[in-house]
Amino acid sequence: MTYKNLLVAVDGGIAAIVLNRPDVRNAIDKAMIDDLHAALDALAARDDVNVLVLSGAGGKAFAAGADIAQLRERKSREALLAINARLFQKLEEFPVPTIAAITGYCLGGGCELAMACDIRIAGRSSRFGQPEVALGIIPAAGGTQRLPRLVGLGRAKEIIFTGRMVDADEAGRIGLVNHVVDDELVMERAQEMARQIAAQGRMALRLAKVAMNASSRTGQDTGFLVEQISQAVLFDSADKHERMTAFLEKRTKKA
Ligand code: COA
Repeated sequence: MTYKNLLVAVDGGIAAIVLNRPDVRNAIDKAMIDDLHAALDALAARDDVNVLVLSGAGGKAFAAGADIAQLRERKSREALLAINARLFQKLEEFPVPTIAAITGYCLGGGCELAMACDIRIAGRSSRFGQPEVALGIIPAAGGTQRLPRLVGLGRAKEIIFTGRMVDADEAGRIGLVNHVVDDELVMERAQEMARQIAAQGRMALRLAKVAMNASSRTGQDTGFLVEQISQAVLFDSADKHERMTAFLEKRTKKA
């Protein structure tokens, strides 16, 4: 799998995508968006991928947002095409769990990309923010919707209205990220979590994600229905039967 602005690999059930434009702090240009669409499609179609880890090359940034040179030239018609938003929607719906492993700047579209992942692990150097309003636009690749869900409406409004940067400790405190660790441990922690996730029931992971995503997309009655139907599918699966039998026959390794 070769891409212009990404590095992509799969090993032991864990897929890795690295945003690879370190000279411009991994700013997300159209070529990277096209690459990400292609990589996500290719990885989603594989049977040997149980979890996906996303990170940024160079250590200085996860991603410093959309490429401002390209953004300046876009008009209303392109905004309505929702170029970044559709990609992040695809990422949120990626069939298996996703982890953002973040060091350095995680701004604008970079922050929106991280928020479209299921779990975020941040290094102490990371800085988060939605500086779009300073550029005369809004965070419209899901930022106005996902940030309030993660940190609450009041905090999201403050972050978006002021455009200020949120450091790693604050990001951890307000729930923007799941864990904060030393920079050099970010990838190790992400891989450790990825291995833990990859060892779980394959179908169960997928359907747990579908059901939890429904919690923010639908009314509660529909959410309960998605949960119930997901469980019904799992109850008849061979994996469920084998995993429960393994427990009862004391073949399960203790966590
Ligand atoms: N789009 C395009 N280019 C970007 C970019 C972006 N979002 N973010 C950084 N770059 C480029 C810079 O123009 C610079 O290019 P140059 O080397 O040709 O001058 C290079 O990346 C390095 O950036 P620099 O500002 O010198 O690095 P820094 O470490 O001092 O600061 C940031 C890093 C992220 C704080 C700063 O680059 C920045 O504020 N970027 C824009 C963030 C933003 O507004 N994002 C939202 C976009 S909607």
